[in-house]
Parts: sequence; structure tokens; C-alpha cells
Amino acid sequence: MEHNAPLPDSDPSARRAPHIPVMLRPLLAGVAPVTGIWADGTFGAGGYARGLLAAGATKVIGIDRDPLALQLAEGWAADYGPRLELTLGTFSDLDTLTNQPLDGVVLDLGVSSMQIDQPERGFSFQKDGPLDMRMSQSGESAADIVNRAPESAIADILYLYGEERASRRIARAIVEARKDPILTTLRLAEIVAKCLPRPKPGQSHPATRSFQALRIAVNAEFAQLAQGLDAAERALKPGGLLAVVTFHSIEDRIVKRFLQVASGQDSNANRYAPATTQAIPRFDLLSKAIGPDDDELADNPRARSAKLRIARRTAAPAQSIDPAQIDVPLLDRKGRR
Ligand SMILES: C[S@@+](CC[C@H](N)C(=O)[O-])C[C@H]1O[C@@H](n2cnc3c(N)ncnc32)[C@H](O)[C@@H]1O
Repeated sequence: MEHNAPLPDSDPSARRAPHIPVMLRPLLAGVAPVTGIWADGTFGAGGYARGLLAAGATKVIGIDRDPLALQLAEGWAADYGPRLELTLGTFSDLDTLTNQPLDGVVLDLGVSSMQIDQPERGFSFQKDGPLDMRMSQSGESAADIVNRAPESAIADILYLYGEERASRRIARAIVEARKDPILTTLRLAEIVAKCLPRPKPGQSHPATRSFQALRIAVNAEFAQLAQGLDAAERALKPGGLLAVVTFHSIEDRIVKRFLQVASGQDSNANRYAPATTQAIPRFDLLSKAIGPDDDELADNPRARSAKLRIARRTAAPAQSIDPAQIDVPLLDRKGRR
């Protein structure tokens, strides 16, 4: 893949954004030529939206569930006039929020560095802050889960969403410690760290997997992803493009399985459908997963685990997908939230 797509270097608003968009260059190269109306379902600091507008999109509808992300864009979004429309909401409702046939949809999953870097949002185990982790700033917080959920539910979250092998040990330690409520990120990080071996140089912080798991639970991220992919399928025109950037293996597996099933390349299909049913592809896969190149890694260490998948919508009618068929972890299938 050639990474020669234009970046919005000459866009004055780009200099104001504190966030370096991950994988923007391969994304723009992969979806070129960019035309028509796009939805950016994870607007964040607006790096993708600006990139798409600079590359030729006639309009971008930016969606984010974090009111602060949209508030921060107020200073520059008006420079684009009606070409940039911002909407507060979740990408699981992408089709109803955009309410028009789309030429493209991008999703850049997870939290933004803006969110992680603000200790008061409670995403970071490196800086002390309230144990919050709510992207939307509403609903159940990480402290609510940690202090109220049964031990077995906490263990399931850590195991299924963080692939944490010490999930039961950590859940037990949390329940023991919460006699004095656990209200801050550093206190939780310390409780988790005591359950695990001291990391060797170069290894990640022992609380990394537990914090990822709790964040996913608080924001119902996997249910959002499964519903968001369905919503994108409904919203895209025939020929429209879907591009998704993921940051960890469970997330990438869901996207990969969705695209396999929706493109008729599901080797397990006979488990779910009668052999006589010939699935009509709703997407054509445009490439295998694309990872960061050396330039990107040098610019942006956060891109280390990023994967980009791109597919083109066909004219086949949209269908709703069974979360079990695309490996959505059990908790989200049961609709815990
Ligand atoms: C990795 S950042 C996106 C950064 C963006 N591509 C940019 O260039 O600035 C992810 C953003 O998506 C938002 N987000 C995550 N899940 C969401 C969901 N289900 N619906 C809407 N927004 C979501 C987060 O609040 C965050 O602002």
C-alpha cells in the first residue's frame, strides 16, 4: 500500500489539534479517491474528518459520544461551513443519526489520547484521577462496577474483555479491598499490581489489561461495535466504503469476522445457515488487515497494535448479524448493559 494520500498539513485547524490521528495516511490511500458524503463515527479530535475533507469528501458527518470532543471542535468546525456537521451520539445509531445514504464510513475505535491524557476522565493508570472511564460522561462508571458488581461479574469482565489470566485473583482482591470504596485510578492500579508479578523492563504495566477490560465494560464497546457495523451496512450506498481501525485483538477479531460473514467468506457459515442458502455478499473485501508502516510507528508509538480493514458495500440488501457469529464476547451478547 502506498502511503501517498494527502494529509491536511495546510489546514490551519490541524495545528490546533493535540491528537495525532493514527493510521490516517493508509486510510486515505486505501479509500482514495474520496468523494461524496462520509460519516466519521468516532470524531474525536477530528483528524480523520479533516483528512477526508481535504482528500475530497463533499461533506463529513462527525459523530462522537463524548460531549467534550464536540465542544473542543467548536472553535474550528465552522471554518468548514456545511461541509462538516457534528452530532452527539453513538455510532451504533449511525444510520439514523446521518439519515441519508453514505459514500463512506470510518470508525477509529477506542479512546482518544485527549481522553487518556486527562486524569479527571479516569482512563489512565499512570495519573491519579476519579475511577470514571465514561466516554459519554453519563451512565455507570468504572467505580460503580468495581464497588458494586459481584466478584464473578468482575472476573468475567477482566477475562473476557482484557484476556487477563489472573482475572479471578484480581476480582477477589478488588472485592476484599472495596470495604473501603475504590474511587481512584491509582488505588485500583495498585490493587491489581499486587496480584501480578512485577513487570520486567519493557513489559507493560500490570494494570493495562484490567483497565482496558473495565473501559470496554463501562462503554459497552463490543456491543457498540457489533451494532455499529450493522448500522454502517444499512447506511452505506452500493459501492460505499467501510474503513475500521482497531487497537487490540478482540476488537479486530469482531471486525474481521463481521467482514468475513458479510462478504460470504465465512468458513463456519454452515453452523448457522442451511447449506442450501447461498449468502449474497453485502461487502467485498478490499484488502487484508493493514498495519502501521515504519514512518507511522516512528511518529506515533500508539499505532503499534493498530489494524485497518476496508471493504466496499455491494447492492445486496442489509441484514442484521448475530453477535455470536462474529465472536462478540459473551458478556456483550447477553446484553449486560
Ligand atoms: C481513537 S478516537 C478517534 C480519533 C479521531 N479519528 C481523530 O482523528 O481525532 C475515538 C473517539 O471515538 C469516540 N467513541 C468511541 N466509541 C464510540 C461510540 N460507540 N460512538 C461514538 N463515539 C465513540 C471516543 O469518544 C473518542 O473520541
